[in-house]
Amino acid sequence: MNFIKKLKNWQELINNRLDQALPAAHVQPKQLHHAIRHSMSAGGKRLRPILVMAAHEIFPGDLDPMPAALAIECIHTYSLIHDDLPAMDNSDLRRGKPSCHKAFDEATAILAGDALQPLAFEILSSFYFDDPELALDLIQILARTSGSKKLVGGQMQDLLAEGSTPDEEILSYIHTNKTAAMIEASLQMGFRIGGKGRDMEKISLIGKVGNSLGLAFQAVDDLLDITQTSDQLGKDAHHDNQSGKVTWISLKGKDEARRLAREHSDKALESLTSIGGESGFLSELIDYMLNRKF
Ligand code: IPE
Ligand code: IPE
Ligand code: MG
Ligand code: MG
Ligand code: MG
Repeated sequence: MNFIKKLKNWQELINNRLDQALPAAHVQPKQLHHAIRHSMSAGGKRLRPILVMAAHEIFPGDLDPMPAALAIECIHTYSLIHDDLPAMDNSDLRRGKPSCHKAFDEATAILAGDALQPLAFEILSSFYFDDPELALDLIQILARTSGSKKLVGGQMQDLLAEGSTPDEEILSYIHTNKTAAMIEASLQMGFRIGGKGRDMEKISLIGKVGNSLGLAFQAVDDLLDITQTSDQLGKDAHHDNQSGKVTWISLKGKDEARRLAREHSDKALESLTSIGGESGFLSELIDYMLNRKF
């Protein structure tokens, strides 16, 4: 199957399985469940769940990676709902629709994000119940990654750095933690479920792939913020400069940001080659993410 067809198939499968995993919109409190579905079904790229599937495919195992894919999308979508809140980035548009607090209200958006976090861990603990060691490993990876030393820490530092003089060390901390950590966790979880999930050397390599891909991904996100329109992105464009965000563009300019994105992407491909196995789709995905337009 060609790359694009497989990507679309996985996106569709993930969307269907997410629809089944989320509480129905008629379940009380309806407003909360509507809000969760509004943000979740608004059509993101589903990159992180696709990375779980692609990492599992390198050395496939008998267990289904899809529940882990859904769990990471729950955490990711919560992080976007909260990222858009007035107290954070104050963004009105997300995934082509009004962001959660605009479509509903701030309290509902906070609670929708809150509810998605335990849902991720409920999914992992129920679906991998028969393999408690695996379930615990997955829960540990996701809990660590979404905590104060990774995702939330990166988001905190992103806000603290607003309006400050760009500093490379701080920027690197922000990108590594707010973005690359979740991308790394997606690959680690998918790989852990697969047939060589306990091979320490390969686990370390897949971590490197994730870190480099994550750094490239955020550099591209920062570039798209200045080169695309809100319509094209489905989220508020030209937003980073207005909010005084520290990005590669504010630090080193557009050309250097582009060069760095390519450099990180190349590094990701290099580490991937050393892993071996069925990594064709993942390697095409790394290229595709570098050249994406939204
Ligand atoms: C946006 O992530 C937040 C960043 C880490 C840059 P995505 O660009 O993957 O957003 P969706 O999931 O496709 O909406
Ligand atoms: C957010 O980074 C990363 C998250 C953890 C949500 P951005 O603030 O740059 O993401 P966008 O551009 O709003 O999607
Ligand atoms: Mg942000
Ligand atoms: Mg934002
Ligand atoms: Mg951004």
